Amino acid sequence: MTYRLFEGKDHASTYQKYRFTPPEEIKNIILQYLDKKKGQPHGLAVDLGCGTGQNSRVLAPYFQEVVGIDVSECQLEEARAVPGFSNITYREGTAEELPFPDCSVDLLTAATAAHWFDPLRFLAEANRVLKPRGCVALLGFSDTCTRLRYQGCGDRLNHLYEEVKQVLLPFTSTRVTVAEGKLDELYSAIPFPDKERIERVPVQSSISVRNLVGFIESMSMFQSYKKKVPKAAEELLLKTQKRFLEEMGVMSPDTEVEHELEYFCVLASKPG
Ligand SMILES: C[S@@+](CC[C@H](N)C(=O)[O-])C[C@H]1O[C@@H](n2cnc3c(N)ncnc32)[C@H](O)[C@@H]1O
Repeated sequence: MTYRLFEGKDHASTYQKYRFTPPEEIKNIILQYLDKKKGQPHGLAVDLGCGTGQNSRVLAPYFQEVVGIDVSECQLEEARAVPGFSNITYREGTAEELPFPDCSVDLLTAATAAHWFDPLRFLAEANRVLKPRGCVALLGFSDTCTRLRYQGCGDRLNHLYEEVKQVLLPFTSTRVTVAEGKLDELYSAIPFPDKERIERVPVQSSISVRNLVGFIESMSMFQSYKKKVPKAAEELLLKTQKRFLEEMGVMSPDTEVEHELEYFCVLASKPG
């Protein structure tokens, strides 16, 4: 079964605006792993479940060619509209049936996407398309570890964020809990003996209140909630922004809060 929770045009444009770009720390971990296991040249990277292309664009400077694959044509349209990346192409397709010959791919990535894949069919395809010593890198972040801070009111902001997640909990797909488990089961199912799972890569950044609320809007559970009760969903966003600003004692939604996220990464290399 293919999950299709990222299909709408509005959802795709929210994605383009508000999803996080994978941080330097994770990019470096992946490229160093690839260099150690397979080395140069970096020919083809395939970014599965690429969405609007945030991770595909991070990879572009390091590979001759990057192909982003996603089941949602709307997401791909947004990705294609970003100028300046002539070595990236975006193709509609699934992680379980890849349009590449055997032994042709250097690196397969999936950024906050692998929990949506059928694990065994995806891993069989990964094994088929990777070159000998080619690598898989599945990255994501655990939203249960998100921490917000603004002057003295970090606890209240974290509490507000938690309240929003509680409202969305009944609309959360069981697949999202797979990601929260840092892809434990998928990691165990990888057939290559050479594999590792880095469970905690804390990343500090800052985010405006506007973008934080936009990130909530981009979540699959928010979109499911909005489908069911559109008015309540819109109100949740407005109310959340208002409560954040009141708590912080500021007027502008462009005010930035400190944002700590905890990334994880599953790495594996096909035998040579
Ligand atoms: C949470 S989004 C992540 C998008 C992007 N990689 C990012 O980091 O923002 C998950 C994406 O995976 C796609 N997807 C879900 N199941 C898929 C599958 N079986 N094969 C390919 N893409 C899939 C969805 O359409 C969606 O765009």
